[in-house]
Amino acid sequence: MKLRPNLENAYELKTPEDNIELYSVWAKSYDSDFIDEMQYELHLSVANEFILAGGKGPVLDVGAGTGVLAKALLQRGKFSIEATDISEAMLEVAKSKNIYERCFWSDLTKQIPVANCSYNGVVSSGTFTHGHVGPSSIFELVRISKPGGVIVISVNEEHWNALDFKTEVRKISEVVKSYQLKKISIYGKQSTHSHKDDKALILTIKV
Ligand SMILES: C[S@@+](CC[C@H](N)C(=O)[O-])C[C@H]1O[C@@H](n2cnc3c(N)ncnc32)[C@H](O)[C@@H]1O
Repeated sequence: MKLRPNLENAYELKTPEDNIELYSVWAKSYDSDFIDEMQYELHLSVANEFILAGGKGPVLDVGAGTGVLAKALLQRGKFSIEATDISEAMLEVAKSKNIYERCFWSDLTKQIPVANCSYNGVVSSGTFTHGHVGPSSIFELVRISKPGGVIVISVNEEHWNALDFKTEVRKISEVVKSYQLKKISIYGKQSTHSHKDDKALILTIKV
């Protein structure tokens, strides 16, 4: 596979291995040609919801990529944050920003290599989307959260409907205190590209 790194091709990925390959090429330019150029704002909304929900550290940022969500969290408060991602190349960029206590590899479609009840907070932006990670990975986030912890993740709205996240979240609601959903825009108001009106659901779970 020799795909150009961009959103269209990222949405067409089929496997975790495809993700490793695409993001190994995208890592160095991701912040400039995706976050800045497309006016991506999902990480800001996830950070805001985590603060609103009273989230505390230690926090795990899953599918952390280059670390934009952790940066947004640290602009809003003091947290100890760890990063995990399937792309070593993305994690290298994240590490270079010196914002994470620890960065480690994991495949969210399998078990995350940490013990039960490890974190007070789990956050994720942009990773539960087409071609990336589906609903069955959410239970793993509950497993690694401490009782009383807060999980805030974004899920692309079309992906939510296509993969029946609703049923998975209903099952999870039986083992957590509460959950809420909020629909938000993924990109800034000034954006003009073909995805400018795309929406995501912010899922906040109180464990
Ligand atoms: C669109 S980026 C989002 C990165 C960052 N959270 C942000 O908001 O910019 C998606 C990230 O999910 C990661 N990813 C994709 N599939 C994964 C998997 N199975 N396990 C862990 N991370 C995965 C990719 O490597 C990539 O860094």
